[in-house]
Amino acid sequence: MRKTIIAGNWKMNGLRADAAALITDLRAKLDGNTDGVEVLVCPPFTALATAEERLKGSAIGLGGQNTFWKEKGAYTGQISPSMLKDAGCTYVILGHSEPRGRFGVPEPDFTPEILAHFGDCDATVNRKLKAVLAAGGLQPIICVGETLSERQAGNTDSVIQTQTRAALDGIAPESVPALVFAYEPVWAIGTGEVCEAGEADRVCGVVRSTVGELYGESAADAVRVQYGGSVKADNALDLLSRPNIDGALVGGASLKAGDFAAIVAAAPERQSV
Ligand code: 13P
Repeated sequence: MRKTIIAGNWKMNGLRADAAALITDLRAKLDGNTDGVEVLVCPPFTALATAEERLKGSAIGLGGQNTFWKEKGAYTGQISPSMLKDAGCTYVILGHSEPRGRFGVPEPDFTPEILAHFGDCDATVNRKLKAVLAAGGLQPIICVGETLSERQAGNTDSVIQTQTRAALDGIAPESVPALVFAYEPVWAIGTGEVCEAGEADRVCGVVRSTVGELYGESAADAVRVQYGGSVKADNALDLLSRPNIDGALVGGASLKAGDFAAIVAAAPERQSV
Protein backbone atom coordinates (compact mmCIF):
# COMPACT_ATOMS: atom_id res chain seq x y z
CA MET A 1 0.00 0.00 0.00
CA ARG A 2 1.27 3.47 -0.85
CA LYS A 3 2.05 5.64 2.15
CA THR A 4 0.39 9.05 2.09
CA ILE A 5 2.88 11.90 1.79
CA ILE A 6 1.97 15.43 2.85
CA ALA A 7 4.52 18.11 2.01
CA GLY A 8 4.52 21.80 2.89
CA ASN A 9 6.09 23.96 0.21
CA TRP A 10 6.75 27.25 1.95
CA LYS A 11 7.93 28.87 -1.30
CA MET A 12 9.63 32.27 -0.75
CA ASN A 13 8.19 32.76 2.72
CA GLY A 14 9.81 32.89 6.09
CA LEU A 15 12.84 34.48 7.69
CA ARG A 16 14.72 32.21 10.07
CA ALA A 17 12.71 33.37 13.06
CA ASP A 18 9.46 32.65 11.19
CA ALA A 19 10.69 29.19 10.28
CA ALA A 20 11.65 28.48 13.88
CA ALA A 21 8.26 29.62 15.15
CA LEU A 22 6.30 27.67 12.52
CA ILE A 23 8.23 24.48 13.22
CA THR A 24 7.70 24.88 16.96
CA ASP A 25 3.95 25.20 16.33
CA LEU A 26 3.91 22.29 13.90
CA ARG A 27 5.74 20.02 16.33
CA ALA A 28 3.29 20.88 19.08
CA LYS A 29 0.50 19.59 16.83
CA LEU A 30 2.19 16.80 14.88
CA ASP A 31 4.90 15.17 16.99
CA GLY A 32 3.77 11.67 17.89
CA ASN A 33 0.84 12.10 15.56
CA THR A 34 2.17 11.25 12.10
CA ASP A 35 2.03 7.44 12.15
CA GLY A 36 1.09 6.10 8.74
CA VAL A 37 1.78 9.42 7.01
CA GLU A 38 5.01 10.91 5.70
CA VAL A 39 5.13 14.61 6.54
CA LEU A 40 7.73 17.11 5.43
CA VAL A 41 8.34 20.82 5.10
CA CYS A 42 10.31 22.61 2.38
CA PRO A 43 11.50 26.01 3.65
CA PRO A 44 13.52 28.48 1.57
CA PHE A 45 17.23 27.60 1.35
CA THR A 46 18.12 30.36 3.80
CA ALA A 47 15.98 28.79 6.52
CA LEU A 48 17.13 25.18 6.05
CA ALA A 49 19.73 25.32 8.82
CA THR A 50 17.24 26.74 11.29
CA ALA A 51 14.63 24.21 10.22
CA GLU A 52 17.05 21.30 10.52
CA GLU A 53 17.97 22.37 14.03
CA ARG A 54 14.34 22.79 15.08
CA LEU A 55 13.24 19.47 13.56
CA LYS A 56 15.75 17.37 15.52
CA GLY A 57 13.92 14.45 17.14
CA SER A 58 10.81 14.97 15.04
CA ALA A 59 9.39 12.63 12.38
CA ILE A 60 8.75 15.65 10.15
CA GLY A 61 11.15 15.57 7.21
CA LEU A 62 13.01 18.41 5.52
CA GLY A 63 13.12 19.17 1.81
CA GLY A 64 14.61 21.66 -0.61
CA GLN A 65 12.44 23.53 -3.10
CA ASN A 66 14.80 23.04 -6.04
CA THR A 67 18.32 21.96 -6.92
CA PHE A 68 20.84 22.04 -9.76
CA TRP A 69 22.20 19.10 -11.72
CA LYS A 70 25.89 19.81 -11.32
CA GLU A 71 27.74 18.61 -8.25
CA LYS A 72 29.88 21.73 -7.81
CA GLY A 73 31.61 24.45 -9.80
CA ALA A 74 31.09 27.84 -11.37
CA TYR A 75 27.29 27.89 -11.18
CA THR A 76 26.55 31.07 -9.27
CA GLY A 77 23.38 30.95 -7.25
CA GLN A 78 22.80 27.22 -7.60
CA ILE A 79 22.50 24.54 -4.93
CA SER A 80 23.58 20.95 -5.61
CA PRO A 81 21.89 17.78 -4.36
CA SER A 82 24.83 17.09 -2.03
CA MET A 83 24.48 20.60 -0.56
CA LEU A 84 20.83 19.87 0.18
CA LYS A 85 21.80 16.61 1.87
CA ASP A 86 24.48 18.43 3.83
CA ALA A 87 21.79 20.88 4.97
CA GLY A 88 19.75 17.99 6.35
CA CYS A 89 17.31 17.55 3.48
CA THR A 90 15.97 14.13 2.56
CA TYR A 91 13.51 15.43 -0.04
CA VAL A 92 13.63 17.85 -2.95
CA ILE A 93 10.90 19.39 -5.10
CA LEU A 94 11.71 19.30 -8.83
CA GLY A 95 10.02 21.08 -11.72
CA HIS A 96 7.54 23.11 -9.74
CA SER A 97 5.53 25.33 -12.09
CA GLU A 98 6.88 28.53 -10.50
CA PRO A 99 10.52 27.89 -11.39
CA ARG A 100 9.16 26.72 -14.77
CA GLY A 101 7.85 30.30 -15.11
CA ARG A 102 4.21 29.17 -15.07
CA PHE A 103 2.06 30.99 -12.53
CA GLY A 104 -1.52 30.43 -11.38
CA VAL A 105 -1.86 34.04 -10.29
CA PRO A 106 -0.66 36.36 -13.09
CA GLU A 107 2.53 38.28 -12.38
CA PRO A 108 2.07 41.40 -14.55
CA ASP A 109 5.66 42.59 -14.18
CA PHE A 110 7.07 39.25 -15.41
CA THR A 111 7.31 39.92 -19.13
CA PRO A 112 7.35 37.01 -21.61
CA GLU A 113 11.11 37.44 -21.94
CA ILE A 114 11.57 37.13 -18.18
CA LEU A 115 9.25 34.13 -17.99
CA ALA A 116 11.09 32.40 -20.81
CA HIS A 117 14.29 32.58 -18.80
CA PHE A 118 12.79 31.83 -15.44
CA GLY A 119 14.54 28.56 -14.83
CA ASP A 120 13.13 25.13 -15.41
CA CYS A 121 11.94 23.33 -18.50
CA ASP A 122 11.33 19.63 -19.13
CA ALA A 123 15.00 19.09 -20.02
CA THR A 124 16.33 20.66 -16.81
CA VAL A 125 13.83 18.75 -14.70
CA ASN A 126 15.13 15.53 -16.25
CA ARG A 127 18.75 16.49 -15.58
CA LYS A 128 17.91 17.42 -12.02
CA LEU A 129 16.11 14.13 -11.45
CA LYS A 130 19.12 12.22 -12.76
CA ALA A 131 21.47 14.21 -10.50
CA VAL A 132 19.27 13.68 -7.45
CA LEU A 133 19.06 9.94 -8.06
CA ALA A 134 22.81 9.73 -8.65
CA ALA A 135 23.49 11.58 -5.40
CA GLY A 136 21.24 9.20 -3.44
CA GLY A 137 19.59 9.96 -0.14
CA LEU A 138 17.11 12.51 -1.51
CA GLN A 139 13.49 11.70 -2.32
CA PRO A 140 12.52 13.71 -5.41
CA ILE A 141 9.01 15.11 -5.77
CA ILE A 142 8.51 15.72 -9.50
CA CYS A 143 5.87 18.32 -10.34
CA VAL A 144 3.73 18.33 -13.46
CA GLY A 145 0.71 20.44 -14.32
CA GLU A 146 -1.19 22.24 -17.05
CA THR A 147 -1.98 25.95 -17.31
CA LEU A 148 -5.54 27.22 -17.62
CA SER A 149 -5.16 27.83 -21.35
CA GLU A 150 -3.77 24.33 -21.87
CA ARG A 151 -6.78 22.92 -19.98
CA GLN A 152 -9.23 25.05 -21.91
CA ALA A 153 -7.68 23.87 -25.17
CA GLY A 154 -8.31 20.27 -24.10
CA ASN A 155 -4.62 19.54 -23.73
CA THR A 156 -4.47 18.61 -20.05
CA ASP A 157 -3.67 14.94 -20.53
CA SER A 158 -1.12 15.49 -23.28
CA VAL A 159 0.70 18.14 -21.22
CA ILE A 160 0.81 15.81 -18.22
CA GLN A 161 2.01 12.89 -20.33
CA THR A 162 4.67 15.00 -22.04
CA GLN A 163 6.03 16.43 -18.78
CA THR A 164 6.00 13.02 -17.07
CA ARG A 165 7.73 11.26 -19.98
CA ALA A 166 10.33 14.03 -20.30
CA ALA A 167 11.14 13.94 -16.59
CA LEU A 168 11.65 10.17 -16.78
CA ASP A 169 13.73 10.11 -19.97
CA GLY A 170 16.67 7.77 -19.35
CA ILE A 171 15.74 7.02 -15.74
CA ALA A 172 16.62 3.46 -14.75
CA PRO A 173 13.60 1.21 -14.05
CA GLU A 174 14.83 0.31 -10.56
CA SER A 175 14.63 3.99 -9.51
CA VAL A 176 11.05 4.48 -10.62
CA PRO A 177 8.87 2.71 -8.01
CA ALA A 178 10.19 4.96 -5.22
CA LEU A 179 9.45 8.20 -7.09
CA VAL A 180 6.90 10.75 -5.95
CA PHE A 181 5.05 12.93 -8.47
CA ALA A 182 2.90 15.93 -7.74
CA TYR A 183 0.06 16.85 -10.07
CA GLU A 184 -0.29 20.59 -9.66
CA PRO A 185 -2.66 22.26 -12.12
CA VAL A 186 -1.10 25.70 -12.53
CA TRP A 187 -4.49 27.44 -12.50
CA ALA A 188 -5.22 26.01 -9.03
CA ILE A 189 -1.98 27.24 -7.44
CA GLY A 190 -2.46 30.12 -5.05
CA THR A 191 -5.85 30.91 -6.56
CA GLY A 192 -8.15 29.27 -4.00
CA GLU A 193 -9.68 27.40 -6.94
CA VAL A 194 -9.04 23.76 -6.11
CA CYS A 195 -9.32 21.17 -8.87
CA GLU A 196 -12.50 19.15 -8.33
CA ALA A 197 -11.43 15.99 -6.49
CA GLY A 198 -12.72 13.54 -9.12
CA GLU A 199 -10.83 15.38 -11.85
CA ALA A 200 -7.68 15.67 -9.71
CA ASP A 201 -7.89 11.92 -9.13
CA ARG A 202 -8.33 11.29 -12.86
CA VAL A 203 -5.27 13.35 -13.80
CA CYS A 204 -3.18 11.78 -11.03
CA GLY A 205 -4.23 8.54 -12.75
CA VAL A 206 -2.86 9.91 -16.04
CA VAL A 207 0.54 10.39 -14.35
CA ARG A 208 0.33 6.85 -13.04
CA SER A 209 -0.68 5.31 -16.37
CA THR A 210 2.10 7.22 -18.14
CA VAL A 211 4.58 5.65 -15.70
CA GLY A 212 2.91 2.31 -16.44
CA GLU A 213 3.33 2.70 -20.21
CA LEU A 214 7.04 3.33 -19.72
CA TYR A 215 7.90 1.01 -16.84
CA GLY A 216 5.05 -1.46 -16.40
CA GLU A 217 2.17 -1.98 -14.05
CA SER A 218 4.04 -2.69 -10.84
CA ALA A 219 6.03 0.57 -11.17
CA ALA A 220 2.76 2.41 -11.84
CA ASP A 221 1.20 0.85 -8.76
CA ALA A 222 4.17 1.80 -6.61
CA VAL A 223 4.76 5.46 -7.51
CA ARG A 224 3.04 7.98 -5.32
CA VAL A 225 1.18 10.90 -6.87
CA GLN A 226 0.35 13.93 -4.78
CA TYR A 227 -2.17 16.59 -5.68
CA GLY A 228 -1.24 20.25 -5.17
CA GLY A 229 -3.14 23.49 -5.76
CA SER A 230 -5.23 25.28 -3.13
CA VAL A 231 -5.30 22.28 -0.79
CA LYS A 232 -6.90 23.43 2.47
CA ALA A 233 -8.14 21.80 5.64
CA ASP A 234 -11.69 21.74 4.31
CA ASN A 235 -10.99 20.07 0.94
CA ALA A 236 -8.16 17.74 2.00
CA LEU A 237 -10.34 14.81 3.04
CA ASP A 238 -12.20 14.74 -0.28
CA LEU A 239 -8.94 14.83 -2.23
CA LEU A 240 -6.98 12.41 -0.07
CA SER A 241 -9.70 9.76 -0.06
CA ARG A 242 -9.43 9.33 -3.84
CA PRO A 243 -7.71 6.17 -5.07
CA ASN A 244 -5.06 7.84 -7.23
CA ILE A 245 -4.18 10.69 -4.85
CA ASP A 246 -1.45 9.62 -2.46
CA GLY A 247 -0.85 12.89 -0.71
CA ALA A 248 -0.77 16.64 -1.00
CA LEU A 249 1.79 19.28 -1.89
CA VAL A 250 0.57 22.25 0.09
CA GLY A 251 1.55 25.88 -0.47
CA GLY A 252 -0.30 28.65 1.35
CA ALA A 253 -1.96 26.41 3.95
CA SER A 254 1.42 24.98 4.97
CA LEU A 255 2.37 28.36 6.43
CA LYS A 256 -0.20 28.01 9.21
CA ALA A 257 0.50 25.21 11.66
CA GLY A 258 -3.18 24.58 12.43
CA ASP A 259 -4.15 24.35 8.75
CA PHE A 260 -1.24 22.11 7.83
CA ALA A 261 -1.86 19.82 10.81
CA ALA A 262 -5.53 19.54 9.82
CA ILE A 263 -4.50 18.47 6.30
CA VAL A 264 -2.19 15.83 7.79
CA ALA A 265 -5.06 14.67 9.99
CA ALA A 266 -7.25 14.23 6.91
CA ALA A 267 -4.91 11.61 5.42
CA PRO A 268 -6.84 8.33 5.17
CA GLU A 269 -4.44 6.39 7.42
CA ARG A 270 -4.97 8.97 10.13
CA GLN A 271 -8.72 8.84 10.24
CA SER A 272 -8.88 5.62 12.20
CA VAL A 273 -6.30 6.78 14.77
P1 13P B 1 -1.14 26.62 -2.90
O1 13P B 1 -1.49 25.51 -1.93
O2 13P B 1 -0.82 27.90 -2.23
O3 13P B 1 -2.17 26.73 -3.98
O4 13P B 1 0.22 26.16 -3.62
C1 13P B 1 0.31 24.90 -4.15
C2 13P B 1 1.71 24.65 -4.56
O5 13P B 1 2.20 25.23 -5.50
C3 13P B 1 2.48 23.70 -3.75
O6 13P B 1 3.70 23.39 -4.34
